[in-house]
Amino acid sequence: MIKIKSSAELRLMLEANEIAAQALALAGRTVRAGMSTWELDKAVHDFIVSKGAVPSSLGYAGFPNSCCISVNEELIHGIPSKKKIIKEGDIVTVDVTTLYKGWQGDNARTFKIGTVSPEAERIMKVTEEALWKGIEQAVPGNRVGDISAAVQQYVESNGYHVVRQFVGHGIGAEMHEDPEVPNFGKAGRGPRLVPGMTICIEPMVNETTPEVKILGDKWTVVEANGHLSAHFEHCIAITNDKPLIMTLESH
Ligand code: MF3
Ligand code: CO
Ligand code: CO
Repeated sequence: MIKIKSSAELRLMLEANEIAAQALALAGRTVRAGMSTWELDKAVHDFIVSKGAVPSSLGYAGFPNSCCISVNEELIHGIPSKKKIIKEGDIVTVDVTTLYKGWQGDNARTFKIGTVSPEAERIMKVTEEALWKGIEQAVPGNRVGDISAAVQQYVESNGYHVVRQFVGHGIGAEMHEDPEVPNFGKAGRGPRLVPGMTICIEPMVNETTPEVKILGDKWTVVEANGHLSAHFEHCIAITNDKPLIMTLESH
């Protein structure tokens, strides 16, 4: 069931999403070669708590940390670790989910560490642009499939692959609500978009295959051939006209 949010609910969701956006920006300022992904997670955790919010990843289905940090071939759900040291040339995806006043915020982006390969630059750029192609379609009257098709078309026309096994989602009082928002599909299909719907659009892009593998830690999702992957996510609300990007640092 898709839950339509009232304007009072949207105002509260905006606060949760602003904190998620601020935490992600903090991660971007903090991340550097030589630090462990655990240290980066700690900075994100402390920031979220300092705002009076809860890092909703922590304990979610047993996830052990406050954000997901995924390096290079790791696509999503990387578990922060003292043993995982970030190095020059890496690309590092941070995915932050917050709970504030009963509402969830969720966003992600892939950061580069120093100078990265042209391949890494390109997959990041295409994935972020694909997110904006999807957001453009998030207008009333369109359907979820219009978002999905725009993302898929953009990614594939640039020679990359969209992951099928994980998808974007509705969001609200729960981190994951209906509808599913796949990064693949057909225009004109799926639930119709109406004002008050809140969704996370999150292209997950692989360099050489749509397939992924899950590591022995049961969480980390990697590009099946061990090549690069990237992930960008915004939480948006459908309005009467343009989509409202909820995951901005301030409104
Ligand atoms: N933030 C993720 C998403 O975009 C969900 C993370 S759940 C966790 O849907 F348990 F892995 F943290
Ligand atoms: Co997320
Ligand atoms: Co999400």
